Amino acid sequence: MTESKLILEVKNLQTSFFTDDGVIPSVDNVDFHVREGEILGIVGESGCGKSVTSLSIMGLVPSPPGKITNGQILFRGKDLTKLSEREMRNVRGNDIAMIFQEPMTSLNPLFTIGNQLIEAITLHKKDWSRKQAKARAIEMMKLVGLPRAEELIKEYPHQLSGGMRQRVMIAMALVCDPQLLIADEPTTALDVTIQAQILKLMRELNERLNTAVILITHDLGVVAETCERVVVMYAGKVVEEGLVETIFNNPQHPYTKGLIASVPDMRYKKQRLYSIQGNVPKPGTVKEGCRFAARCESVFGRCTEENPPLYETSEGHKTRCFLYDEKEILVNDKTAATS
Ligand SMILES: Nc1ncnc2c1ncn2[C@@H]1O[C@H](COP(=O)(O)OP(=O)(O)OP(=O)(O)O)[C@@H](O)[C@H]1O
Ligand SMILES: [Mg+2]
Repeated sequence: MTESKLILEVKNLQTSFFTDDGVIPSVDNVDFHVREGEILGIVGESGCGKSVTSLSIMGLVPSPPGKITNGQILFRGKDLTKLSEREMRNVRGNDIAMIFQEPMTSLNPLFTIGNQLIEAITLHKKDWSRKQAKARAIEMMKLVGLPRAEELIKEYPHQLSGGMRQRVMIAMALVCDPQLLIADEPTTALDVTIQAQILKLMRELNERLNTAVILITHDLGVVAETCERVVVMYAGKVVEEGLVETIFNNPQHPYTKGLIASVPDMRYKKQRLYSIQGNVPKPGTVKEGCRFAARCESVFGRCTEENPPLYETSEGHKTRCFLYDEKEILVNDKTAATS
């Protein structure tokens, strides 16, 4: 099998916030890539830096106080961090689109769904007539499974359900025929059935249009259902990366293990769910050692002294944990055996 081409490479990305407490790197040396047409999941608890990572790719980090302080974001080999605001707007209009958690914040309550879609279309296709744009808007609405598109086009955002609004947002994002779609918690605000429908729609669109997707979520269940590969983030760093199947069958980082143990298993309705003790540390507060050490069940001496690198434990499976440094595995096994 030949692997498809890389579309996005995030290399050593560091995005910091300049605050009264100092310069805080909320995203710290993050590396990952996306291939053409694949769905990559980025998962992690609240505050891990998922949104800051996606805003960095889109060139939308609020500045001040935020700024990309290191690294590269290569989109088809072109470094987006070097582009001017005008060039970045062009990328956002043509190559990369983003959808957010709460569609109400991105839709204008004063304009009809049709007007907003038509505006998005004509922004992209400047020489199109309004009639052409309207026809395209209806086509896009049907593509994302919105019912009675011809009538819906005259309605206002508040007249639609949450799931329908999210479908409108997806239609808007796809208007420019992007090569990459970043969906930041697109289903969190929706109830479970609607969430499943939206995820199914994203998978169908990905297959049909071959749009690569970065799906950001705090829910590993969503990742299992939708993605091929996943990047696990913890406190601004990538702690594990691999194929979804590998990560679920053989999670390596204690954080990933904890996340998996916290996914409800539908077979056991009354089970008590595991939850990882403690909270994600505030960015910048762990000065030395692994950021997960304070919550880790497998912590040992070195973890609080040195920052673990990412170890590639098998092809494409990477883990930022000293347990996978071969020497340390031996030492740790010995400790376990004698205690
Ligand atoms: N405007 C800002 N000013 C200062 N710090 C910020 C700002 N925006 C984000 N941060 C910090 O960056 C860190 C990462 O935030 P981010 O929003 O990326 O988390 P997240 O993983 O998307 O969480 P969630 O699951 O809650 O959406 C947080 O600790 C947050 O405090
Ligand atoms: Mg977020």
